Parts: sequence; C-alpha cells; structure tokens
Amino acid sequence: MNSATEILELGPVVPVVVFTDTEHAVPAAQALLRGGIRTIEVTLRTPVALPALERIAAEVPDIVVGAGTITEPGQAHEAAEAGARYLVTPGCTERLLDDIDDTGLPALPGVSTASEALRLAERGAQALKFFPAEPSGGAAYLKSLTGPLPNLRFCPTGGITADNAPSYLSLPNVDCIGGSWLTPGSALAAGDWDHVEALARQAAELG
Ligand code: 3PG
Repeated sequence: MNSATEILELGPVVPVVVFTDTEHAVPAAQALLRGGIRTIEVTLRTPVALPALERIAAEVPDIVVGAGTITEPGQAHEAAEAGARYLVTPGCTERLLDDIDDTGLPALPGVSTASEALRLAERGAQALKFFPAEPSGGAAYLKSLTGPLPNLRFCPTGGITADNAPSYLSLPNVDCIGGSWLTPGSALAAGDWDHVEALARQAAELG
C-alpha cells in the first residue's frame, strides 16, 4: 500500500469494526475474507483495538488491515507498529496530519465540508473519508462536490447501510464506502461468523 487511492481500490466496502474482545479479531477477519472483502478497518475505540489489529496483521496476512478512529497524535505510530497498513481519521488537525505523515502510511483523513477538503487537497491529499456521511448531507452533498472538486476521491462513512450504499457507490467521486454493518456487535459477541461472512458477501457484490 503506497497511496491513499490504493485503499479505495481494495473493494466497494471497507468494514469498520469495533472489537471488544481480541479473540474475535482473527475469526472476524477470516469471515470477511471468505465473503470476498479484502480489507478491515479496526477502530481505535476500545482497549483491545491495538492487540486485535496486531493479531490480524500477524495471523490473517491476506486481508489488508487498517486502523481507524485515529484522533490523537501518537495513535498513528502505535497503529503502524501494530501492523496497520493504512490509517483513517474522522476529522483532522495539523498535528494529527503531521503525525500521520511521519508514519509514511497512506491515509484517508476525514472531512465533512468543502473547505476541509480543500485544505487537505492543499496538503496533497487525493483521497478522503467523508464523515459522518449521512448527517453531513449524504450522497446529495457529496455529489455536489464533484463539480468544484473533480480531482478528489471520497470514501463516505457514517450511517451507510446495504440499503443506501448504492446511492453513494454510483457517484463519480466515490470508489468505496465504509460501514460497520458487516460486523454487528451482536454477531461478534455470538461468534456468528457465518452471518459476518454472509453480510460480507452481500457487501462485496455491491461492487
Ligand atoms: C466510522 O468510524 O467510520 C463510523 O463510526 C462508522 O459509521 P457506521 O457505524 O454508521 O457505519
């Protein structure tokens, strides 16, 4: 993974996962892979997130593991050390962006307005996360950015489901979307890997 645009090419859906138990990490990643999904974004929102990410990087090498919810300086380096191959943020500060640049990893920095997108473009970003997609104006807002910002690519995330996914994936400035619906907490807790695989298969087919 050398560039942020390569993240967008991993498939139509980036599963955004919140782990509460490290033991769920490997079977969840394997279920996603069996369903045809080639990447997993582990959100740094729980104490087990980094060890979960580390397990996936070490034990499921065929899936491209990224770290999401990078919100504080230091987390980018921790995620890189744990084996993350890309980084995702919900929003940006200069300090956070500098920290991410230091890791050398490709990233999808989060934006929700045209001004934020322009600021990131000035720093050389080509691909951005649009977050939180639905509350920020959804597919209609993103579509309206194609005219003034034709060179920017977006991965919308936040409030996206299998039902509204096609309205985003049909936009000219969207290659993939992100969402947590592939890995519901109830399925992870129950160890229902067949369900995760089925949701992954349905998502992979959105492409
Ligand atoms: C994220 O961090 O990208 C979002 O929390 C995922 O949003 P969702 O749970 O609405 O899919």
